[in-house]
Amino acid sequence: MVPVIAIDGPSGSGKGTIAKLVAQRLGWHYLDSGALYRALGLAVDRHGIDPADPAAVADLARRLDLRFDGERIWLDGEDVSAAIRSEAAGNQASRVAAIPEVRAALLQWQRDYARPPGLVADGRDMGSVVFPRAPLRIFLDASPEERAQRRYNQLKEKGMDVSLPALAEEIRERDARDRGRAAAPLVAAPGAFVLDSTGLSIDQVLARVLAWVGAALPGSLPQ
Ligand code: DC
Repeated sequence: MVPVIAIDGPSGSGKGTIAKLVAQRLGWHYLDSGALYRALGLAVDRHGIDPADPAAVADLARRLDLRFDGERIWLDGEDVSAAIRSEAAGNQASRVAAIPEVRAALLQWQRDYARPPGLVADGRDMGSVVFPRAPLRIFLDASPEERAQRRYNQLKEKGMDVSLPALAEEIRERDARDRGRAAAPLVAAPGAFVLDSTGLSIDQVLARVLAWVGAALPGSLPQ
């Protein structure tokens, strides 16, 4: 059994940043499952598919030509790493992700990512659905204001044109959809360690998470 660390949480909770750092520290693989849904959302637009047609979107999900290569993500042979990061792409991702057939179509693709020596996976349902037997499940959260501010800083850093109030509203809508959907809603998995990172620095959150890693997976952390 390949060990998996599942890190879930809403947008701007810091799960992506922390998951990447933990994977680096352990020398494990990293799966950004949100990027998968974002790429599918983009593909739906580009292939002219009606996002409200579950069968058509699920069919596209099954034949998605997608490749993750470190920080780069390729869709139909094109580098879409930047295009999938906009808030519009996040919203489209959240819409297609609410379709149960789509989630079923992408399940095995995500599970296949669990390869030796281990996997750190972040998303909304890593601990609850995709890797329910993960030896360590973490749920990160933060206040809506702080999450909006973090996303704002992230998008600004990437040179994107964003307004904080508009972003806060989009995040609110997206979170409500992700939490309220019937299929794999955003929840803390049973037995997950929950951390509210409001007011904490990345280093502080990382230290807490690494302490959990050390306790749950003894011997996994390099000395
Ligand atoms: O983590 P993110 O912001 O990149 O995710 C974008 C959207 O994709 C998110 O609003 C909901 C969906 N998603 C999901 O439903 N399940 C996951 N495991 C990851 C993301």
